[in-house]
Amino acid sequence: MQTNELRASELRSRLALALDVDDAVEAQRLAAELAPWFGVAKVGLELFSAAGPRVVQMLIDDGYEVFLDLKLADIPTTVRKAARVLGALGVSYLTMHAFAGPAVLRAGVEGLTEGAELAGLPIPSALAVTVLTSDADAPPHILGKRVAAAVESRCAGVVCAASDVAEAKQLAPRLIAVVPGLRPPGSPADDQARSATPGEALAAGADLLVVGRAVTASKDRKSAASELVSSLTA
Ligand code: C5P
Repeated sequence: MQTNELRASELRSRLALALDVDDAVEAQRLAAELAPWFGVAKVGLELFSAAGPRVVQMLIDDGYEVFLDLKLADIPTTVRKAARVLGALGVSYLTMHAFAGPAVLRAGVEGLTEGAELAGLPIPSALAVTVLTSDADAPPHILGKRVAAAVESRCAGVVCAASDVAEAKQLAPRLIAVVPGLRPPGSPADDQARSATPGEALAAGADLLVVGRAVTASKDRKSAASELVSSLTA
């Protein structure tokens, strides 16, 4: 899809807001403020550790699709059981670390599916995190290995840097590509080693864009979100 063909309403479902805060009230406030631009709320380790499963329900009740970014990585049985619990929460996406290998990813996919089915909910998309966008030293061959693990284990998608999307899609065209580490032109990279602009990520073929500090750390968050969307729809 061409960037300029995107309408703001379509784009909203492809923009995930990283709620990297340690308090449910603050998360809900941020989510409410930025709901006109973001259709997906990403709950990561910090917020889930602070607020637990109730924050997921709260965001669903507020109309968000929830992206639970817990990056699971453990023995297959443990990942299966954790994913089964998380699959019953109503999340739309759950991440696991691809470095854990296909057996672990497969256990996670099965647990997630079972948990959602038992709760009568749609089956969430399992996402395999390929290489952290903060990792500047990952060897080049590793992406292919991790994408292959995602395919083998029937994950719905991968999380990768914008610069890895083309290769990931070539290897596995049916996987959705989720891209974090996004920074508008000229803004600080923070701890992201392989950042890109949101426009570059979309042009590379990203399906879901994860946006955190570029908007949440801005002095004027609404303007930052609005400018981000304008830059992608103009
Ligand atoms: O603030 P910033 O836009 O850098 O936030 C990026 C978010 O995406 C964080 O919540 C981080 O945990 C997550 N993430 C990432 N790189 C990955 C996977 C997830 O930065 N490979």
